[in-house]
Amino acid sequence: MDIVAKANKLIQASEDVIMMCVGQPSAPAPKTARDAAKVAIDNGRIGYTDASGIGPLRVRIAKHYLEQHNVDIDPKRIIVTNGSSCAFTLSFLSIFEIGARVAIPSPGYPAYRNILRSLSMEAVEIDTNAQSGWVLTPQLLKEAHALKPLDGLLIANPNNPNGTMLEASAFKELQETCAQLGIKFISDEIYHGLTYGQKEISALCVSDDCIVINSFSKYFCMTGWRVGWMIVPVNMIVTVNRLQQNLFICAPEISQIAALHAFDGLEELERTKAGYLKNRTLLLENLPKMGLSEIMPVDGAFYCYANVEAYTQNSESLCADILANANLALTPGVDFDSKNGNKWIRLSFAGSNQDMQKGLERLGNYLDTKS
Ligand SMILES: Cc1ncc(COP(=O)(O)O)c(C=O)c1O
Repeated sequence: MDIVAKANKLIQASEDVIMMCVGQPSAPAPKTARDAAKVAIDNGRIGYTDASGIGPLRVRIAKHYLEQHNVDIDPKRIIVTNGSSCAFTLSFLSIFEIGARVAIPSPGYPAYRNILRSLSMEAVEIDTNAQSGWVLTPQLLKEAHALKPLDGLLIANPNNPNGTMLEASAFKELQETCAQLGIKFISDEIYHGLTYGQKEISALCVSDDCIVINSFSKYFCMTGWRVGWMIVPVNMIVTVNRLQQNLFICAPEISQIAALHAFDGLEELERTKAGYLKNRTLLLENLPKMGLSEIMPVDGAFYCYANVEAYTQNSESLCADILANANLALTPGVDFDSKNGNKWIRLSFAGSNQDMQKGLERLGNYLDTKS
């Protein structure tokens, strides 16, 4: 956040800053979504909806699972949320008690641990490593559970900050291990649709006894619309809806209408994704030439997580220095991993190809001055 704030200050002062720090697409929501929102405004009142969301959107999301994963989901199990962020709170409050121990992988999305802590629950960070392929393996989970029993596991696949993914068989094994050990499984599938090799697997392909969280923020390029969804087991529908009604009432109606029509904009979204692939290739070809050759596998999402140990023991000050001297905003790994993150930086390639080229040039020139 510090880097973003500093970068925005520079931009306000008319500096030409390349933003490779934020985890959001530079592309807008698909035209189909924007047009539908305009029509909704012209038609008049935007109001509350059912806590679970508008029926047509929930039906369309269910169809999405049939199309993408060949699983049949009853729309009653789908709750439309204010981005995936609110779905975390709804999930934690629904299935855990105060003091619950919830495993999350490290490096990982920082809000997981912060939301858990704010609800007086314990985030148990499990370090991934090169031997594990930088993913949370069933073995690592079993070891953590043996040390002190866990109540839950929350995992993103592909993951933020590294884009690394468990293979389908390993993901299935992890989920089955949770079932055997009585650990509740929450699958953050926000980067689904953004994979560059193997196709992602949904936890719903393995079992209905899990919570799946997803969002229109990333693949659908709708971060600011604040709309996502969760899919819960039948016995949780009432609880989650009650919590949603009381905590958030509903997701914004206009965003729900736009989200429904975002599914008609897949061609545009696939073009945006093709741009990410081009950016990814550019980064993976050029970062090693600058001496940044250790990069966690970029299987999906739009991030490269690169080791900067050769240049610093403090990625936070490195990122601040790069911003100050090269007008390039990158994210220090400490945001995602308080233990080892000072050796890593995250580069987001969700921007334009031109920005990636400029960003790489600036980074290369900066690092040249350091070697
Ligand atoms: C792994 C992961 N989950 C969830 C979110 C939150 O997304 P949103 O609330 O916009 O759906 C993010 C945002 O960067 C993320 O990286």
